[in-house]
Order: sequence, then structure tokens, then C-alpha cells
Amino acid sequence: MAGLVETSLDGHVALLRLNRPEARNALSPEMMEELASELERLDPDPDVRCVVIAGSDQVFAAGADIKSMSERSFAEALRHPAASFWRRVAAIKTPLIAAVSGYALGGGCELALACDMIVADAEARFGQPEITLGIIPGGGGTQRLARVLGKQLAMEYVLTGRRFDAEMARKMGLVNKVVKKGKWLQEAMELAHTVAERPPIATRLAKQAVIGAEETALSAGLENERRLYELAMATEDRVEGMKAFLEKREPKFEGR
Ligand code: HXC
Repeated sequence: MAGLVETSLDGHVALLRLNRPEARNALSPEMMEELASELERLDPDPDVRCVVIAGSDQVFAAGADIKSMSERSFAEALRHPAASFWRRVAAIKTPLIAAVSGYALGGGCELALACDMIVADAEARFGQPEITLGIIPGGGGTQRLARVLGKQLAMEYVLTGRRFDAEMARKMGLVNKVVKKGKWLQEAMELAHTVAERPPIATRLAKQAVIGAEETALSAGLENERRLYELAMATEDRVEGMKAFLEKREPKFEGR
């Protein structure tokens, strides 16, 4: 039986594809567990330098699984293992790229937002429709949307549940790149390969430093960046990177 998350490796890039087409890739507890476990398995692997999370042409993910949520009591929701899913994704050190085609709604939009970059098909649709179900986003949507779009726009989308398209997402700074219909996965993989060509310790440190900008005050963020920079200075890869520049050749990074 095919898994709910299908993993393949392309050089130093891992591609994780959500595979529950009959439920529009709704994030069931089982799928969340599989995705988080797969990310945690790949994270320490030195051969994996960037991860792409993708759905299908029709849908990235239609949110948390409404059927399984509808049967959950308040007490069960408090203890549910799916609650730790978002913390587990946020703890991944490897750069993550969401490749979005079709719908990224509710928890699907939140999963894309939890990634470090988003490449979207021109026909992708984003939104946080939770309010129409009588709930609110619970996977980081209110916080990450507010940080990316600003309070007013985040408020509008969270309170109305309205969708927005890929071009709007790009204008608001949520999406890195909108690509021609059908090219979304190829372009996301190309971006991932570019990241994977960079020295892997430095890309992980850089990810941590940029995330620090969202989580800390400027002075603490600058201090954090300085420590991470000093760590990067201690790597063999930076010796190689600088030497290669001076010798006018391509660097060969070993992840040391
Ligand atoms: C469970 C879902 C689902 C979901 C779709 N399906 N989305 N099942 N949870 N989130 C199921 C449908 O019940 C249906 O099953 C099948 O997938 C096909 O769905 P259709 O609606 O017929 O498909 P389509 O017309 O293509 O519309 C696609 C869609 C729509 C626009 C994505 O399905 C939709 O609006 N889905 C719900 C989106 C949503 O509200 N997401 C927020 C969820 S709450 P059957 O058996 O009838 O074929 C959330 C909270 C996160 O995410 C909180 C943090 C954890």
C-alpha cells in the first residue's frame, strides 16, 4: 500500500509528496505523523540538504481532516498527538520549501507557511477557512500570516475565511515565486537544488538566523546572528568557499 507521504531523493534534495487524493490531501493524524516522522528522519541525514514538500496538481492540502476533527472531544483535542505536529515541523533545521499547486487551505496553508519558502503554481489558492467551520487556525496561521501580511490583512483572511490567489500571495510576500501552470514542482526542485549546492552547515545556520528575526527583538536577533556567523566561520566549508573564490574555481562543499 502506498504511504500517505511518499519520499524520493534527487541528489541532495528530498521530495515529500502528500498522497491522500481521495480526501484532497487533508492532514489526517496518520498523515501528520508520517510527515513529521519523515522530516525528523531526514533532518540529521548529511546527504539531505533541502526538503521540498508537495501535493498534487490539484491540491497541496485541504487542511486538517475535518472528519477526524469532527469526532474529537475537547478533552481529546487537548491531548491529541496532532498538536505536536507543528512544533515538530518548526524544529526541523534543514531548509524546507513548499511546492504549492491547487488548494492550500487551513492546515494546508499553515503547512506551507511553516516552510521556509513557497513556490506556487499560478492557479494555487490559499486561505484559512477555519472560521467557516466554527474554529480558528491552530497550526500557526494567525501568527505566521500576521507576520508575513501584517495585522490588517491577516485579520481579514482569518475573520472572513476568504481565499486568495497565487499572485495576491506573491504581492503580499507570502510566496517567493509564482510559476506558469504545470511548472510548480520543477521550479521548486530547482530552487531546492540551488540551496542544496550551498554549504549545508551554513544553510542550516542561515535558516536559524533568519527565523530568529521573527522570534526575537532586534538586539537579541543580532546577537543570535553573530553567534551563528561565528559558528559558520569555524567550518571547513568556509575555508573551502573562500579559497575557491580566491583561486577562481567552483567550491566543493563537504558539510564539515
Ligand atoms: C476531510 C476533506 C477535506 C478536509 C476535502 N475533503 N477536504 N475531508 N478534511 N479538510 C474530502 C471531501 O469530504 C470529499 O470526500 C473529498 O475530499 C473531495 O472533496 P470535494 O469538496 O468534493 O472536492 P473539490 O470540489 O475539489 O473541493 C476541494 C476543496 C474542498 C476546495 C479543497 O474540499 C474544501 O473546501 N475542503 C475543506 C477546506 C477546509 O475547510 N479546510 C480547513 C480545515 S480545518 P468525499 O468522501 O465526499 O468524496 C483546518 C484546521 C487546522 O485545517 C488547525 C490546525 C491543525
